[in-house]
Parts: sequence; C-alpha cells; structure tokens
Amino acid sequence: MLPANLLLSSLFLASSVAALSPLLDPWHARPHVPYVDEPDDSVSVFHVSTNEQISSYKETYYFDQLIDHSNPKLGTFKQRYWHSYEFYEPGGTIVLMTPGEVSADGFTGYLTNSTINGMIMQATNGAGIVLEHRFFGKSSPYPDLSVKSLRVHTIQQSIDDLEYFAKNVKLPMPGGDKVTPDKAPWIMIGGSYPGALVSYAMHNKPGLFWAGYSSSGVVQAIGHFWGYFEPIRQSMPKNCSADVEAVIGYVDKVLDSGNATAIHDMKAIFGLEGIAHDDDFGAAMKLPFNYWQEGSIESESVGFYQFCDALEVDKGKSAPASGWGLDHALKAWGAFWKDGFYNAACGNSTAEACFGTHDPTSSSWNNTELSDGRSWNWLLCNQFGFWMIGASEGHPTLVSRHLTAQYNERGCQYDFPGAFKGPKTLSILNALAVNNAYGGWNVTTDRLIFANGQRDPWREATVAADGASFPKNDLQPHLLSDGFHCSDMLASEGKSKAVKEVQDKAVEYMTKWYADWKKAKA
Ligand SMILES: *[C@@H]1O[C@H](CO)[C@@H](O)[C@H](O)[C@H]1NC(C)=O
Ligand SMILES: *[C@@H]1O[C@H](CO)[C@@H](O)[C@H](O)[C@H]1NC(C)=O
Ligand SMILES: *[C@@H]1O[C@H](CO)[C@@H](O)[C@H](O)[C@H]1NC(C)=O
Ligand SMILES: *[C@@H]1O[C@H](CO)[C@@H](O)[C@H](O)[C@H]1NC(C)=O
Ligand SMILES: *[C@@H]1O[C@H](CO)[C@@H](O)[C@H](O)[C@H]1NC(C)=O
Ligand SMILES: *[C@@H]1O[C@H](CO)[C@@H](O)[C@H](O)[C@H]1NC(C)=O
Repeated sequence: MLPANLLLSSLFLASSVAALSPLLDPWHARPHVPYVDEPDDSVSVFHVSTNEQISSYKETYYFDQLIDHSNPKLGTFKQRYWHSYEFYEPGGTIVLMTPGEVSADGFTGYLTNSTINGMIMQATNGAGIVLEHRFFGKSSPYPDLSVKSLRVHTIQQSIDDLEYFAKNVKLPMPGGDKVTPDKAPWIMIGGSYPGALVSYAMHNKPGLFWAGYSSSGVVQAIGHFWGYFEPIRQSMPKNCSADVEAVIGYVDKVLDSGNATAIHDMKAIFGLEGIAHDDDFGAAMKLPFNYWQEGSIESESVGFYQFCDALEVDKGKSAPASGWGLDHALKAWGAFWKDGFYNAACGNSTAEACFGTHDPTSSSWNNTELSDGRSWNWLLCNQFGFWMIGASEGHPTLVSRHLTAQYNERGCQYDFPGAFKGPKTLSILNALAVNNAYGGWNVTTDRLIFANGQRDPWREATVAADGASFPKNDLQPHLLSDGFHCSDMLASEGKSKAVKEVQDKAVEYMTKWYADWKKAKA
C-alpha cells in the first residue's frame, strides 16, 4: 500500500533523486506488497514431474481485457500477466495474484516457492499467475490519467477484471484453455490493497474463487485512518514513543496558540520555518514514520531506528522507557532534520517547495501522465480515504492533530480538478460505501484465509484490528504473526516461528480445500 502522502508524488520525484545522506529517502520507503528477488532469467525452468523445460518466469503475456465492464462496446486494452506451470498437474489449482497498486514488473518471484503463492502451488498441483492491475504499470485502459479516463478506475471494475480474466484466459500451458473456474479450483492471493481485493472479489462474485488468501488485507475502508500509527506506537521503543508524543503535544500546543512568532520559532527548531501552513508542517513531522512499513523480520526498518536512535541515544547512553523528556527530544529531533533527514526528504528544494500543498496552480497537480502514484491516489480520493492523520482528541498521537483529513481532501480537489466537490466528510462517506458494498470487516466468505502481522501499520484496517471480534472459524481462519506488512507472503520471513506457523497453517487449509474440491467434483 502506497503511503497516502504520495498525493504529492510528482512534487517529490525530482528531489528524491539527489539525496546525499545515508538516510533512506522517506518518501519512497517501501509501499505495497514486498518485492522478492526475481528468479535468474538465465536459469531454465523445468516442470516438476515431466522435467520438460518450460518458458521462463519473465515471459510477459497479454490478455484482452474489457475497458469498461458496464459497457463492453468500448472495447479492450492489453492487460499484462506472467505465468508458470512448473508445479501444475491436470486437475490442479490456478493461483492468481495481482500486485495491485504498483507496476507488476519485478514480481515474478511470486511465481516461485520463495512466496506463499508457490508454497500453495506446490501443495495443490497449482499453476501461478501474476496479473497486473488496471491503471498500473503498463496495463492502462487509456493512455493518460485524466479525470475522464479514470472514470473506469474503480474497485468494481478491477473485480470485474478478475472475473473476465478467469473466465476467458487461455493460459499458455497444455490444457490451458480448459481451466476456467467452473472446471478448475481458482485460488486468489493478495497482500495489502490486493489482500482486500481477495475478500471483496469473493464476497462480490460467489463461486468465482474456490479459496482465497488475504495477507494484510485492508478490508475495512477508513476515511480518517489515524489507526495507521497505532501498531507503530505499540511496537516502537517505549522511550521513543514517549518522547515523540511529548514533542508532538508541544508542537500542537504552539500551533493551537496562533502566536505567529512562537510558531515560527518552533518550526525553526527543525529548520522548517519556511513551511507556511500548519497542516503542511504536520505532514513534514509525520515523515519519519513512513520508515516503519519498511520493517521486516529479516531486517528491521533501518530508517526508523535511525530516527529513534537520534532521539533516544545521547552520548552513547540510551534513555529509560520514559524517554529524555521534551527539552532534549525537541533539540534532538531538530538536529535529526538538520543532520541529514531534510536532505534525504527534500534534497535542494526549499521547505515550502518540498512540503507546501496550498497552491492550486502548482504544476505538481493534475499531471495526467500515467503514474502509479496518481492511479493509487484516485482510488484513495474516490473510495478508500485511508488518510494518515493525527489521532482524534483523547487518544495518544504520534502525529500532529493539525494534519487533518482536509489536507488530503484538498489534495484530491487540486489533483483531479472538477472530480471532487463533496462535503468535508466525503472520505468517511466514500469509505462507508466501500464497506457496505464489499463487507469490510464483516465478510462471512467460506474458504478465505486472513493472515496478518501484529506490527503491520495497516493492521487497524484488517480483521486483526484492536478489539476486533469478527467472524472466524475453520472456513474463515484468522492467522496472526509478529510480522509486518505482508510478511507472511515471503518464505524468507519464515525465520520468525510465528510467520512460519501462519504459512504452514495456510498450506494445510489450502491442501484440505483442494481435496474438498476434488471430492465435490468426483
Ligand atoms: C543541489 O545543489 C548542488 C550544489 O549547488 C548541485 O551541485 C546539485 O546538482 C543540486 N542537485 C539538484 C538535484 O538540483
Ligand atoms: C522450490 O522449487 C524449486 C524448483 O523451482 C525446487 O528445486 C525446490 O526444492 C523447492 N523448494 C522447496 C522448499 O520446496
Ligand atoms: C508570542 O510568542 C512570543 C515568542 O515565544 C512571545 O515572546 C510573546 O509574548 C507571545 N505573544 C503572546 C501574545 O502571547
Ligand atoms: C530506547 O531507545 C533506544 C534507541 O532507539 C532503543 O534501542 C531502546 O530499546 C529504548 N529503550 C527503552 C527502554 O525503550
Ligand atoms: C488537467 O489536465 C488536463 C490534461 O493535461 C487538461 O486538459 C485540463 O484542462 C487540466 N485541468 C485543469 C483544471 O487544469
Ligand atoms: C458490521 O457489523 C456490525 C455489527 O453487527 C455493524 O454495526 C456494521 O454496520 C456492519 N458493517 C457493515 C459494513 O456491514
């Protein structure tokens, strides 16, 4: 899942290139389903039982997909996919995944057993497919992302894509024209937004997929998504959260005061006095938290720990759980910006050019060229919301409460002129409509596995949200590990015992459900 702040994406592309500091560019901290090393193209692929050489994982195929499922007369576009039948035996499963909100280039590892996809294929005689999502990568129905073109960029169209694909594709393998969902058990897998799509598609198209695996599936659309920071707050070092809360409490008190001199002086501590508007300043202060999502069992997020170390380690000594307190933390956070973080985030840009979002005439808006960031923003603006903002009053917050939903909603209006004119609560209403249409937390679909990670910042939008007591049983297992975002999709993350258990369980369920299919068909 891309951070919502990529609403400003075009603005930052230029500045991100030149980052000189060893700090990772926080705007491009890992979003979405993790990449996994692509298989070496020079190594031939052999079918597991016939030993016949089959085509390379990287061979690209094209499917003629309908531009508009509610108006097939508009014709088709080329939707890219990749495929492997290394583990396939006649009668086996068809394991489909889309990487969702990014180009599908670089995801062929999901055809191999380095991923949960491959593990399930191995256990169920499955063939694998990686299908690019409409409007991402090179699978665009139209050559631009104008508001007019984006009319056919909806969750429903993408679910309809899955159905039309499954019912019409002729897979490039022996018998590949006889594996439609009425003849073969299709399994859908997805992580992050596509994890939600698994649940949505199974709810919306009963009978299309025999089984599903939703990893970090953000099934509950949430307009004002301050819950993104809750798993971070709960899992990060205690001293660091204590000091962050103290600093943000102070920042908000000063911003609330409306005293221009005091506000200027406070922003200057971070070298950010050039930022004119308080919500832009709040967005800047949020930036280090983008690093968290980078975390994995294999390597904790380096960027995030650099941030906490900067706040909590003083002359080689680390603060007690209560932190150092406001005075030290404020100075230390300021120094962190000045000692490299600003450079990593903004390069040579001025602070206002880097963070300012209040100028509707800025060339960074309404750039209608194809871009994954803009495509994703369209879905956020139109349907999901997921605005990462300060917590509601009364809850502890890592993020300034001056960073509000209006910050994002204004971005939607500037970026897609004419498309959004609704009330201020628009994102809440949009999210409600998504949940009503696709079930949100309340889905009761059979043979659907939800797998989540305790430390996943998206957890509060998944069925593993705090305080959740959602339907679960042997036909809708809810599996939870100590992982991060989509950790359980990667074999390498099985280094964690809990992640490995989730993967083993998932394979066990899929094996059983595959047997159930065969029994039902016999
Ligand atoms: C940033 O400024 C330096 C020094 O003026 C210059 O050499 C460099 O090319 C600039 N980088 C960008 C991306 O503008
Ligand atoms: C993964 O698949 C490869 C063939 O691509 C096979 O050689 C290897 O043994 C498999 N690994 C496991 C753990 O099953
Ligand atoms: C505003 O803040 C400045 C700097 O902290 C302070 O000197 C001044 O007294 C404040 N003004 C008011 C009206 O509180
Ligand atoms: C304090 O912060 C440091 C640096 O991030 C961390 O390594 C340590 O575990 C923290 N200690 C406590 C008690 O929170
Ligand atoms: C947005 O961009 C499109 C394509 O470049 C252009 O036709 C349209 O006039 C722009 N809209 C506004 C309000 O600038
Ligand atoms: C989910 O269930 C709860 C409790 O029954 C209900 O209040 C809520 O409206 C439901 N949500 C949706 C999207 O159906």
